[in-house]
Amino acid sequence: MIVLVLGSGGREHALAWKISQSSLLNKLYIAPGNAGTSDLGENVAINPAHFDKVADFAIKNKVEIIVVGPEGPLVNGIHDYFAKDTSLSSITIIGPKKEGAILEGSKDFSKKFMLKNNIPTAKYKSFDSTTIKEGELYLETMKPPYVLKADGLAGGKGVLILNALKEAKTELRQMLSNKKFGDASNKVVVEEFLDGVEVSVFIITDGMSYKILPEAKDYKRIGEGDTGLNTGGMGAISPVPFANREFMDKVENQIIIPTVKGLRKENIEYSGFIFFGLILVKGDPYVIEYNCRLGDPETEVILPRLKSDLLDLFDGIATDTLSERDVEIDPKSAGTVMLVSGGYPEKYKTGEKIQIGELHERSVLFHAGTKQENGEILTAGGRVISVTSFGKDIESSVKNSYTTISNIHFNKMNYRKDIGKDVIKKVK
Ligand code: AMP
Ligand code: GLY
Repeated sequence: MIVLVLGSGGREHALAWKISQSSLLNKLYIAPGNAGTSDLGENVAINPAHFDKVADFAIKNKVEIIVVGPEGPLVNGIHDYFAKDTSLSSITIIGPKKEGAILEGSKDFSKKFMLKNNIPTAKYKSFDSTTIKEGELYLETMKPPYVLKADGLAGGKGVLILNALKEAKTELRQMLSNKKFGDASNKVVVEEFLDGVEVSVFIITDGMSYKILPEAKDYKRIGEGDTGLNTGGMGAISPVPFANREFMDKVENQIIIPTVKGLRKENIEYSGFIFFGLILVKGDPYVIEYNCRLGDPETEVILPRLKSDLLDLFDGIATDTLSERDVEIDPKSAGTVMLVSGGYPEKYKTGEKIQIGELHERSVLFHAGTKQENGEILTAGGRVISVTSFGKDIESSVKNSYTTISNIHFNKMNYRKDIGKDVIKKVK
């Protein structure tokens, strides 16, 4: 098979790494990729947002499968672009059309979808610029903290959690009348705050059947002990100790099955991944958000634990035979620690030379923001390299990653030293 992965982060490096292990693979391209993906396939300088360029390349190079890493191209209709053109429609896109990607692209849509399908989620109401007053009155009926969510994609920044009612009202107004998040906040979801621990659950589906992939927990804040600003993700672990059999059964019955059935009921064809952002409250799972793609850095711990051939699963999607494919999961643990540029998630410098020494034998590096120049590897983003390691348990997997990190250097390198610590404590 000839495969093209779209994207340039650690998630896409992990996808390329897993796909490159498949006996079904003939040729792998990554657009645009990074310094890590170029070791596994051919990097192609195409921006995934330019569907025409992706299409030209795919036709010229006889690409059979396109795996879309980030949500942007999906929400903007890359799958629809290929489906409506007869010269492109035989290419399998891993990722839904617009009508399915809206699960991530509109919080208002996803909340309505959950309500209709009896999927547990926080109580909510949506408001627009004509109903700001009603929004303020609704906030008055709620208890703090107040959760405000921009309806559309806002680069992970569209959720505000506020302690004071006055501030919540001001922010609601900022979002709706002053377009704080541009068109993404034309509508705002105001919802009940749920207090619990979060876990990310992933499935791959052809719209009819689905397979559950390993679950993960990510660490979003920049600072140790989950403090400071939100980031794209500073680390992740898999498996998640509290996501035991009983919990996962609830997730499957109360969330996964109603979601896949709900999509079918609404005649939404869906092929690709669904990422369920869940929160565990008093023993029960609630959906915080849907994403129409894999997570980053969650992918860097879930794909290493997938024993099955990922291309075989993609072939199952291409031929509507996913139900006949096997998903085998490695019982080993995986932990990843993200190395970031000093200053991230605010201002940071790029172009720093990265020195990589000996890796722990159970580690693998997934590049996030790197580029190759004159034979050197340089930093090219806020998140730079995700260091994943296996171990017999979370504690040892993360420890192995820290051993590898002691041999990686770049100017102003920063990383969290407490990845996995919270769950290790709870297990003991
Ligand atoms: P989202 O972009 O919807 O994933 O929200 C970002 C983060 O905000 C989530 O990962 C949670 O940590 C937090 N969050 C969102 N909604 C809620 C809620 N209803 N209750 C508590 N925390 C929430
Ligand atoms: N790590 C969270 C996300 O990918 O959305």
